[in-house]
Amino acid sequence: MQHDKVLILDFGSQYTQLIARRVRELNIYSEIHPFNKIPTNIDDYKAVILSGSPFSVRGDEALHPDLSNIRGKKPLLGVCYGAQYLAHFSGGNVAPSNTREYGRAKLSYVKEGEAFLEGISEGSQVWMSHSDTIKELPTNGELLASTHDVENAAYKINGESTFAIQFHPEVYHSTDGKQLLENFLVNIANVKPDWTPNAFVEETVEELKKKLGNDKVVLGLSGGVDSSVAAVLLHKAIGKNLYCVFVNNGLLRKNEFESVLKQYEGMGLNVKGVDASARFLDALAGESDPEKKRKAIGRVFIEVFDDEAHLIEDVKWLAQGTIYPDVIESVSATGGPSATIKSHHNVGGLPDFMKLKVVEPLKALFKDEVRRVGASLGIDAELLGRHPFPGPGLAIRILGDITAEKVRILQEVDAIFINGLKEWNLYDKVWQAGAMLLPVNSVGVMGDERTYEKCVALRAVESTDGMTADWVNLPYEFLQKTSNDIINKVKGVNRVVYDISSKPPATIEWE
Ligand code: XMP
Repeated sequence: MQHDKVLILDFGSQYTQLIARRVRELNIYSEIHPFNKIPTNIDDYKAVILSGSPFSVRGDEALHPDLSNIRGKKPLLGVCYGAQYLAHFSGGNVAPSNTREYGRAKLSYVKEGEAFLEGISEGSQVWMSHSDTIKELPTNGELLASTHDVENAAYKINGESTFAIQFHPEVYHSTDGKQLLENFLVNIANVKPDWTPNAFVEETVEELKKKLGNDKVVLGLSGGVDSSVAAVLLHKAIGKNLYCVFVNNGLLRKNEFESVLKQYEGMGLNVKGVDASARFLDALAGESDPEKKRKAIGRVFIEVFDDEAHLIEDVKWLAQGTIYPDVIESVSATGGPSATIKSHHNVGGLPDFMKLKVVEPLKALFKDEVRRVGASLGIDAELLGRHPFPGPGLAIRILGDITAEKVRILQEVDAIFINGLKEWNLYDKVWQAGAMLLPVNSVGVMGDERTYEKCVALRAVESTDGMTADWVNLPYEFLQKTSNDIINKVKGVNRVVYDISSKPPATIEWE
């Protein structure tokens, strides 16, 4: 089955990924491509959206792609910079605006009887974020909506299916933004909204069967959502030919190796648990530089995983739980187009090293879609709702060098914190949480004794993608109980602090 596809051309806006997500929420498949790499198979896309940008259309010519294969030939929607771009090159006028145009605004005029604006009325809140403004509409332009400060907030170009909006429909603060995207994509561009998790599972399983045939595939499970969903999907397609390896690096949460392994086995997966804790701890001995710790863990992981893969006779493929944000190529605001591939992807060095063919069944999905696909595969809600956990595990939460004793202390502290969050029904309200073991001893008093022991910092953040994050305002009573429990139960800790830094300028992990 072929799905209708929507092309999003990225001009570097911080919101481009959000456009794709909103479109996907409508059950429509969309792809982001850099503005200067317009796909040659443009006929495969039913509609095109131009994103916003931190740049001005009056500036750098490098950001002026040739849209002649798109404009007038396909339904086209310009958002913010996209709207200005369409005006600037078609007889309109774009100039710096006199008033600040950031944040909330309300539509003060909405043209009646427009399919593009169906269900949207005056007073609807929209989100503005721009410093240039459209002073004059392009040739054949017709005004569709205004706000108090922005007269040309939405327009269309008569004679083509081209629409433009100065505000951002992709952010939640634009209350009718999703409706507007639906009007454009479904009512105007006739895109079929049939990209559902069930359809994805069915089609992907068929594709995997065809692609992999009778070949054997090895996959590294991490206990996280992405690798688990990838494994279940592959298992559905190729059954016993999928060999999963779950490596214990000794830096997992307390009892996690055993409990997750059991859970995987319960799901019918063919999993081998490999306890390589000692190898990892050896490689980390005496090392306190965060990047060197990461590298050492990555190196040992590759060695252990490669050893295991060699035990599988005739294995041909390496499967990975790579997801869309890991592969997306977008435009950096500080320079030309650049890849925003996470440098700390768990198994970064594996594919080249192992000389296996790579299969990545989740490569087109965002995290929330991975969860929806996981649910439609019948994966346990608890597994799907797990907080993200970094590949190097507790190693980057123990500041300084790592010893088995420090790992033990942090595992105990972390377990009290995380179990507490679950008991208090706070776990699902937090995006990620954990504890950091600080390289600081401080004086305390327990009973009649003076102590000189470790300090731990608790961190709980809310976020959507880990790129930005804010600390969570956990109830004082919860913090009080957790702190008491930790100090009373974990030998070696006499002080607990709570991290109240946002990202940026801090990061989520301390190393
Ligand atoms: P930071 O600390 O950069 O973390 O704000 C953002 C997100 O990435 C995770 N993280 C990692 N994940 N390997 C990983 O697989 C790593 O080296 C690594 N460092 C940070 C972090 O837990 C958070 O979810």
